[in-house]
Amino acid sequence: MDVVTGAFSFTGRYVAARLLESGREVRTLTRRPRGESPFGGRVQAFPLDFSDPAPLRGVDTIYNTYWIRFPDSSTSFEDAVRNSVALFDAARAAGVRRIVQLSVTQASGDSPYAYFRGKAAVEAALAASGLSHAIVRPTLVFGDGEVLVNNVAWLLRRLPLFLLPSEACRLRPIAAEDLAALCVEAGRDEDNVTFDAAGPDELAFEDLVRLVRDAVGSRAAVVHGGARTVRSLTQALGFVTRETLLTADELRALADDLLTSGEPPRGTRRIADWVTANAAFLGRQLATGDGRPWPK
Ligand SMILES: NC(=O)c1ccc[n+]([C@@H]2O[C@H](COP(=O)([O-])OP(=O)(O)OC[C@H]3O[C@@H](n4cnc5c(N)ncnc54)[C@H](OP(=O)(O)O)[C@@H]3O)[C@@H](O)[C@H]2O)c1
Repeated sequence: MDVVTGAFSFTGRYVAARLLESGREVRTLTRRPRGESPFGGRVQAFPLDFSDPAPLRGVDTIYNTYWIRFPDSSTSFEDAVRNSVALFDAARAAGVRRIVQLSVTQASGDSPYAYFRGKAAVEAALAASGLSHAIVRPTLVFGDGEVLVNNVAWLLRRLPLFLLPSEACRLRPIAAEDLAALCVEAGRDEDNVTFDAAGPDELAFEDLVRLVRDAVGSRAAVVHGGARTVRSLTQALGFVTRETLLTADELRALADDLLTSGEPPRGTRRIADWVTANAAFLGRQLATGDGRPWPK
């Protein structure tokens, strides 16, 4: 029996599917109603109560995907760190053998970005917890249910112009299936490990935008807009759509090449193949961070 936090969400769904395929029983901790389960009754759902050891009793491994993209009135990054630590304490109390923690490439206590500092704090807390663990640090994850590439496609389908934030923005995207396979493999081991989960291709964000534009048949002009202009436009689009498309920090982190990796690729699936295979669906609907249909 394993637990996946967020098994009805994006990455957690792929991890849960992989575990079920390999014959494991799966529970999830989630805020989502049972009705949103893509697994029918095969995954037992419990409320996302970080400090409750009860649903963790009899569990071998926890695959923890829990995190927030940006702070809001109810949860800060400091809260997200505290919640993660509470989950580790509950896991220890329940006798869980191992934690596979989804982190991010280039998580660092010195990062200028609260997201990456928070991830480093969670990694440090897990390392100090005494629990057997694997820390898996993905780059940009692509697959059914992801937000960024889909919303790039959504914009390209509707606007005559796509403004790029900067010249740089290198990415090494990894397929959600590949990431899930790495997580499940890491869950079976005993050793404490930390590794990046990156795909086979490094490409510039501009290349990704052009790839998506061609695949979805958009004629939008793709031009460099300068970071400040792009931030203002993204904010304006957020105001119109009432969705946080990209935060200022996410744009800066992208420009700082934080979603790439110097480690050898561990994923094999190529983002160009995925974009081509999913071109008919990409960007038809705006993807919302919480998976609810837009407009809400
Ligand atoms: N997606 C990427 O490209 C990417 C890249 C690098 C690292 N990562 C890391 O990989 C992990 C999974 O990412 P993901 O994109 O798959 O995330 P996700 O599906 O949006 O969310 C993952 C989990 O966090 C929970 N969650 C999100 N916001 C919450 C909030 N405000 N309050 C309480 N719970 C909240 C979700 O709960 P529910 O089950 O209730 O929805 C879900 O369990 C995260 O740790 C993320 O930092 C992702």
